[in-house]
Amino acid sequence: MKSRQWLLARRPTAEITPDHFEMVERDIGEPDTGKGEILVKHQILVCAPAMRGWMQADRPRFVPGIDPGDPIMALGGAKVVKSANPAFPEGSRIRCVGAWQEYQVLDPKGAGCELIEDDLSLADAIGIYSTNALTAYFGLLKVGEPKQGETLVVSGAAGSTGSVVVQIGKIKGLRVIGIAGGAEKCGWVLDDYGADAVIDYKNENVAERLAALCPDGIDVFFDNVGGDILQAAVDNIAQYGRIVLCGQISGYDADRPAPGPRDMMQLVYGSIRMQGFLLYDYFRDFDQGRTDLRHWVDSGLIKHREDIRPGFENLPETYAALFNGENRGSLLALLDEEALRKPER
Ligand SMILES: NC(=O)c1ccc[n+]([C@@H]2O[C@H](COP(=O)([O-])OP(=O)(O)OC[C@H]3O[C@@H](n4cnc5c(N)ncnc54)[C@H](OP(=O)(O)O)[C@@H]3O)[C@@H](O)[C@H]2O)c1
Repeated sequence: MKSRQWLLARRPTAEITPDHFEMVERDIGEPDTGKGEILVKHQILVCAPAMRGWMQADRPRFVPGIDPGDPIMALGGAKVVKSANPAFPEGSRIRCVGAWQEYQVLDPKGAGCELIEDDLSLADAIGIYSTNALTAYFGLLKVGEPKQGETLVVSGAAGSTGSVVVQIGKIKGLRVIGIAGGAEKCGWVLDDYGADAVIDYKNENVAERLAALCPDGIDVFFDNVGGDILQAAVDNIAQYGRIVLCGQISGYDADRPAPGPRDMMQLVYGSIRMQGFLLYDYFRDFDQGRTDLRHWVDSGLIKHREDIRPGFENLPETYAALFNGENRGSLLALLDEEALRKPER
């Protein structure tokens, strides 16, 4: 069996561009019946900022990483086309950690395969009911520990993760301020996601606006961005505030990591807790997270926006949109239109 694959051609050291990738066609073998393997057709793939770090050897990586010559590892939604595993029969639809390739042989356990609920499209299963929304859920509720009436500030607030943080914040009775880039995205944060106020970091002074909007300080800062925006939040954090370190996207596509806060004594004197986390810390509680998200989406309390871009050939260009702010919602690469439909019953 042959499949087209995108490989890492060379490591990015600053801005990621299409010439960091190379498309090849390769023999991918057949499922090993003795090992319970499956052959899947990838139908839709998640474009996640973390993948950018996996390609760079001089940055901390929480997975083995992607080296030159390796396929580009990615979370995706796929259909099983051949199976040597009764738990994943032919025709079933799954979430899995796969790669940028059209077909792939997977060991279901190693690839974290999960069957998709029958009433969801693959796009929803890897979109609003998958990693970013769960990251928002656990990061805010378990790490941020918000209390009703507190002030929550969210960076990357128009994005896949940030928009869900804003909305869960409102569900939990917080005063929510979002930070996003440009008038259009700031409009979504206020009008669609329901924040109480928004700061356009591309056109406003974030530290001054935070000081004006949070005279009693920020109780919880959920940070997707790092760098100057993290510094502005640290400068305005309330006593006993919590800083949730979800990501540092401002440094991913730069030639050096985003810097940390310049004076950590502010955190000492404020009795501030600054905590990083990985979604997989909460793996055992995923069912609870998905149940709550499902309930909130079904009852109209959480809105979601996907930016679905077709074309296996276009994957490198699609991926780059994360780092120039061009993505308009959860960035997904569509390989097969079937991923947009719920299965017929
Ligand atoms: N800890 C975890 O387990 C975990 C899991 C999932 C995601 N994350 C993190 O969550 C964050 C958001 O990821 P996502 O998938 O939801 O992406 P996203 O927010 O949907 O898209 C990325 C957005 O980041 C913003 N951005 C890009 N470069 C920026 C810069 N230099 N300064 C400020 N903003 C910039 C852009 O928004 P604007 O147009 O508004 O600038 C862009 O649209 C990332 O940091 C990611 O690593 C962490």
